[in-house]
Amino acid sequence: MVAGLVRRKEGHVLDKSFFTPESVAVVGASAEPGKLGNIVINNIIHYGYKGKVFPVNPSLTEVEGLKSYPGVTAIPDKVDMAVVVVPSRVVPGVMREMGEKGIKQAVIITAGFKETGLAGFKMENEVTEIARSYGIRFLGPNCFGFIDTSISLNATFASGMAKKGNISFLSQSGALAQAMLDWTQVNGVGFSKFVTLGNKADINESDLIESWKDDPSTSVVIAYLEGVVEGPRFRKAAIELTRTKPFILIKAGSTGAGSRAASSHTGTLAGFDAAYSAIFKQTGILRADSVEELIDFALAFADQPIIKGERIAIVTNAGGPGIMASDASEKAGLKLAQFTKDTVDKLRSSLPPTANIYNPVDVVGDAGADRYRVALDTVLKDPNVDGALVLLTPQASTEVKKTAEVVTGAAGSTGKPILTSFMGGPAVTGGIELLTENNIPNYPFPERAIESYRAMVRYRGWLEKKPEPVRKFKVDREKARAVLDQAIREKRRALSDLEASRIIGAYGIPLPAAKLARSAEEAAAFAGEIGFPVVMKIASPDILHKSDVGGVKVNITTPEAARNAYVEIVDSATRLMPEAQITGVDVQELIRGREVILGMNCDATFGPLLLFGLGGIYVEVLKDVTFRVAPITAADAGEMIREIRSYPLLTGVRGERPADIPAVIDALLRLSQLVTELKEITELDINPLMVREMGKGAVAIDCRMGIAVE
Ligand code: COA
Repeated sequence: MVAGLVRRKEGHVLDKSFFTPESVAVVGASAEPGKLGNIVINNIIHYGYKGKVFPVNPSLTEVEGLKSYPGVTAIPDKVDMAVVVVPSRVVPGVMREMGEKGIKQAVIITAGFKETGLAGFKMENEVTEIARSYGIRFLGPNCFGFIDTSISLNATFASGMAKKGNISFLSQSGALAQAMLDWTQVNGVGFSKFVTLGNKADINESDLIESWKDDPSTSVVIAYLEGVVEGPRFRKAAIELTRTKPFILIKAGSTGAGSRAASSHTGTLAGFDAAYSAIFKQTGILRADSVEELIDFALAFADQPIIKGERIAIVTNAGGPGIMASDASEKAGLKLAQFTKDTVDKLRSSLPPTANIYNPVDVVGDAGADRYRVALDTVLKDPNVDGALVLLTPQASTEVKKTAEVVTGAAGSTGKPILTSFMGGPAVTGGIELLTENNIPNYPFPERAIESYRAMVRYRGWLEKKPEPVRKFKVDREKARAVLDQAIREKRRALSDLEASRIIGAYGIPLPAAKLARSAEEAAAFAGEIGFPVVMKIASPDILHKSDVGGVKVNITTPEAARNAYVEIVDSATRLMPEAQITGVDVQELIRGREVILGMNCDATFGPLLLFGLGGIYVEVLKDVTFRVAPITAADAGEMIREIRSYPLLTGVRGERPADIPAVIDALLRLSQLVTELKEITELDINPLMVREMGKGAVAIDCRMGIAVE
């Protein structure tokens, strides 16, 4: 967090009526065509807003036929919202006047704040502080404004108006919003709310998704964000939203990666996107990689029922596109439905012998609308079909418009979604218009329709996932705290491996049996007590890389070997690091198993980011790892384990017994609790966690921990 940044108050929930003011003042309304203050007032007046509009301009008495006021305090009526289009230097004064007038909502379109440097940053803070002191909520500054189609209010300087619909859009980029608005004029996308956030000095993405969760005019939320400002709040709000409405998001840029230290494996492996990718998985947000995808998915969700399974039927009048769609389905993890015998019989008796009656159903190039009707009706009735994709290429005999009518007629009859891809140019335009008017999404190519189905299938999977509480273990928190506090007092950024092991041990993560030997004789005796074979390691607070000084010996099988190892380890370490203080040699149980890594690195936006992956010395080469933001549930931990490429190594290959995956889940959950409770820990690697056979547990062999000290 930047020092001095004014933060919003906790629990300061955005009023649901923010976007539906009954009266709007335009501060900086101008009579001069082309000026922003003129465009904004025109947009408010001319797209059908029924509320009162008050131009505010000290040098004019009338703007666009409306009486103008020298300041908001001069307006005799109640004013719900002010849209501010005056130069930045006067915005603090305007905000104060708004406070005096009792205006509680504002949109600051004006640029020239924190995006311009320190002076702008200070002014933004000043404006935000004034707003806070009067309880004013505001969008921006440096934003494009907003549109609410439910009251026909266009409070932007856009060159057009959004079509009415059930999609709500929030954008961190005003320019992108303008381009998108223009684009959606041609492809029929309708919006409920269309909001740009600008610098997010007050209202941010979390405010909007919290308030749209219960908004009856919003069925789908789409967004373009470069970064999230309140990670944990966003996470919670997104989960609540996606329980009832799909939330599709483009996340651009790399905000939030700045403060990540990278001295641990986890830090090195967590690229700038790791936390966001994890949050997408943990909140059910659907990621779009382009604006095209954002719109494609939004269209599918806006008007079609959510697909109940992953089995689709394809109806086409051309072989090639049918094959392309089948290939795309396979890649996307969808299934081509296997028709029932009734369906096959019906198709056989109704279609010409040249038709393909199996999926994809090819009604053949000379097909008119009737063939499409019989094919589509039949496959939609099949219980093995969850959704249909209708493909059409325009041959001379193709009845494009009539076929579009067939599709619109079939839509809604079975509760199954229908997507279309009428391919071509002018020959298919009429059909596409008809489809669009009837809310059937049409995609220029089959692959985009298939991707949209895939997004639907993923969302259905999320809806079916039962929300699960985070498990809380009984742990020895005081013990862990005491070890940590000692290091903090001594202002050490890294803990010794002994300290790190004590902390994870206090949280119940199993450690190998170990004893500190202070002589060769003790080493032999302890090895006997622990049970051969053992591992012996130099114990010294000054030696971090033990192997480099000959400080580690593995697989010691006899008392004699233990005695010799003790002498050799101490000799070698003393010779190579004479100044190091040596407390003895650790004699440890030798654990065999499959090596995995567990870790944590702090993400600046979302907090502790947990890592799981294939462990050992090649972890950074193989990069077979996955991430989630703590705290995680058992289901999250299970998913993490199944997600890595080498998961089959844990389930057992070539007759090998499976590894103890429940023990790994347990360790991940305990680690999640640990890093959530002990917030000073900034990075942590347990590498390897040695996973034994099923039922025999998992043991943390090595642990490194870094902490934040003042
Ligand atoms: N109260 C009301 N009106 C005031 C005022 C006040 N305290 N002080 C000045 N005004 C009036 C001016 O008289 C002027 O009216 P006029 O056209 O009748 O002369 C109007 O407000 C605008 O002021 P002006 O000095 O002409 O500024 P401008 O129009 O050149 O620029 C902005 C104002 C807001 C457009 C400009 O500062 C800006 O920020 N532009 C970028 C906006 C942007 O890109 N936002 C982000 C989009 S994503």
